[in-house]
Amino acid sequence: MDIPRGFDSHGLELPPPDAEAIAYSTRLVEAIVTRIENNSGVIGFDEYMHMALYEPGLGYYSGSAIKFGALGDFVTAPEISPLFGNCVARQAAALIEQGCAARILEFGAGSGKLCGHIMDALPDLEQYVILDLSAELKQRQQNYLSKYLDAEQFSKIEWISGLPESFDGIVLANEVLDAMPVHLLYRQREWQELGVSYDGNRFQWQSFEPGEPVVAAMRQIEAVVGELPDDYRCELNLNLKPWFAALAQSCQKAAAIIIDYGYEQSEYYHPTRKRGTLDCYYQHRLHFDPLIYPGLQDITAFIDFDACADAAEANGFEILGLVPQQNFLLANGLLEDAQQQSDGQDTHAQLALSQQVKTLSMPDEMGQMFKVLALQKNLTLDMPAMQRRGPGG
Ligand SMILES: C[S@@+](CC[C@H](N)C(=O)[O-])C[C@H]1O[C@@H](n2cnc3c(N)ncnc32)[C@H](O)[C@@H]1O
Repeated sequence: MDIPRGFDSHGLELPPPDAEAIAYSTRLVEAIVTRIENNSGVIGFDEYMHMALYEPGLGYYSGSAIKFGALGDFVTAPEISPLFGNCVARQAAALIEQGCAARILEFGAGSGKLCGHIMDALPDLEQYVILDLSAELKQRQQNYLSKYLDAEQFSKIEWISGLPESFDGIVLANEVLDAMPVHLLYRQREWQELGVSYDGNRFQWQSFEPGEPVVAAMRQIEAVVGELPDDYRCELNLNLKPWFAALAQSCQKAAAIIIDYGYEQSEYYHPTRKRGTLDCYYQHRLHFDPLIYPGLQDITAFIDFDACADAAEANGFEILGLVPQQNFLLANGLLEDAQQQSDGQDTHAQLALSQQVKTLSMPDEMGQMFKVLALQKNLTLDMPAMQRRGPGG
């Protein structure tokens, strides 16, 4: 059988998509090929990633792929346990007590679970606003939350398609920044950008000379971390600056809690990290080829938290801290909550809770790799959870 366009997995052992998925992805392949042809035969990887994830109706996030949970491709903290949302809610309650408006703005709400868990824990919240790039996910969130919450709580949720002109309250983003398109760079004496071309049967890597903003950003990074070696591949997220600039413009009196996997800059661009941090997830298999299964698999890159903090500060946010997720959750009552929920349960339920605590907080699971960056603007908040810096945090 001929391999459909864009589906040769170069020997990777991944489960094959079914005929419906192939048909759906083939439409996306055609859209990307047209874009490549209209751009003299090559597009930057950032453009490829943007289309693969967000092309209306066809991209991984904007299309019908299941994405989250056991039947999807990956699992996020809110999918693992309500304990996660409970901790975020306790942190939010502490901020509200200190004068922050009782309003939450969540970016990229996924299945809607985090929103549901927070609304459960904070019945007095005035409003919950969701901003997601994906119209398909918005629909899914509305379906899920209209059943999960009672009518009064559900009526407090508002879906918006652009940042509000003015926002007071708490901004949340869990695993959102890692889904932003990145530039892919390769160093061989000089920096080369990796783009995507098409050979009539499959997508291929093609290098080209990077533009001035990319070169300037890499120069700035190397001034901090030192010159990087040859044969070095890394990612560069140029969306962080405009994202924080827009957020800062909208936020008047606000706190922001940003949770994601990532490193400080010296670790992110460490000379030994020679293949970068770009990962792909397809049916819970991690692999490193973003050019196959377009629209059917997640593509993600770790976060350079120094770049985030710099972009936030440059736009008027004050940094409240950066800590491993473990510290944040423990300081916000993870163990006490799990213990309380465990009391009176049967052994099976107790073991399940204990497994959830481990997955969320142990250093070899999500506890260390995931970090929490907290910011404030025009407020003087105290966040003790952000002051306990653990190893690498
Ligand atoms: C990896 S999923 C995480 C979903 C959810 N927060 C969770 O933890 O389960 C990324 C989400 O971010 C959304 N997203 C990505 N970039 C965004 C942006 N710039 N603004 C709003 N949503 C965005 C995607 O549509 C998707 O819902």
